[in-house]
Amino acid sequence: MGDISGGLSVKDKKTTKLPISGKRNILITSALPYVNNVPHLGNIIGSVLSADVFARYCRLRGYNIIYMCGTDEYGTATETKALEENCTPQQICDKYHAIHKEVYQWFNISFDEFGRTSTPQQTEVCQAIFKKLMENNWLSENTMQQLYCDTCERFLADRHVEGNCPTPGCNYDSARGDQCENCGKLLNPTELLDPRCKVCRSTPRIRDTNHLFLELPLLKDKLEEYINSMSVAGGWSQNAVQTTFSWLKEGLKPRCITRDLKWGVPVPLERFEDKVFYVWFDAPIGYVSITSCYTHEWEKWWKNPENVELYQFMGKDNVPFHTVSTKFLNMNKNMRHMC
Ligand code: 2FM
Ligand code: ZN
Repeated sequence: MGDISGGLSVKDKKTTKLPISGKRNILITSALPYVNNVPHLGNIIGSVLSADVFARYCRLRGYNIIYMCGTDEYGTATETKALEENCTPQQICDKYHAIHKEVYQWFNISFDEFGRTSTPQQTEVCQAIFKKLMENNWLSENTMQQLYCDTCERFLADRHVEGNCPTPGCNYDSARGDQCENCGKLLNPTELLDPRCKVCRSTPRIRDTNHLFLELPLLKDKLEEYINSMSVAGGWSQNAVQTTFSWLKEGLKPRCITRDLKWGVPVPLERFEDKVFYVWFDAPIGYVSITSCYTHEWEKWWKNPENVELYQFMGKDNVPFHTVSTKFLNMNKNMRHMC
């Protein structure tokens, strides 16, 4: 995975920072905000501002740091917004990425790079990681049952279904297909009681579709060892520790990493040519690809755990996607999770 723009950019020559041996090198990330809306104070206070304060502190201490962020652009939410605004997902992303960038500039947030996930670099890094996962036999293929809306003539993305939360004692009547906002439990849309299509309100039916799954159960031992040691060594926040351990306690299940959508990183397999990666598979890879837009020598930041500390700032809801399901990245050996 080299520099696909070919050669050094002007930025590489002038200002790009690389880890310096003998110095404290720190890579800081804050959660990539979804591009489909105007950033709100929650985004800014939740992770950007804390990361920015930390980045400024580190610079004052003379540490060698970079702070990476950018917009999270793929997935259903963008496709929906494009439908609403009668334009293409790319146009939506271009418009809202510019708005995000401007807002953060206004707040004088000191990013070293504010990138985006809808780039060729993202496709390249994502597909390369996917191929590694295949080689390591950490993926499986399975037929899945998904809700299909006959009125809208499409599979319904998790967020496009709502229904009653199946968790005993919760029963929230507007739980989303991926998560109940009331009790926080992560859900499969087929678990919802009385499911409804969010677009047309009709009752969807279950239909078969083939998907790829990340075999988290195969990673159980490695994962537990990593979480046990890193949560202490990396001084993870209480929130990060608690959420991670409650995921482990529930038992690791294979997680579906593909979707029946168009707007996303294409799955590089012939029989999956109409599918893309799930946004939560590609989003955490965004930190890496945004760094690769910052410098073609990005591996010096991401594959150099002896010399680089990684600090990730994120919202509470984002924790398991950083601490558990991205373990496969296996680059983040020296990571801290702040939320
Ligand atoms: O919750 C959110 O706004 C997500 N877009 C955060 C993604 S963080 C990372 F994984 F990119
Ligand atoms: Zn519908």
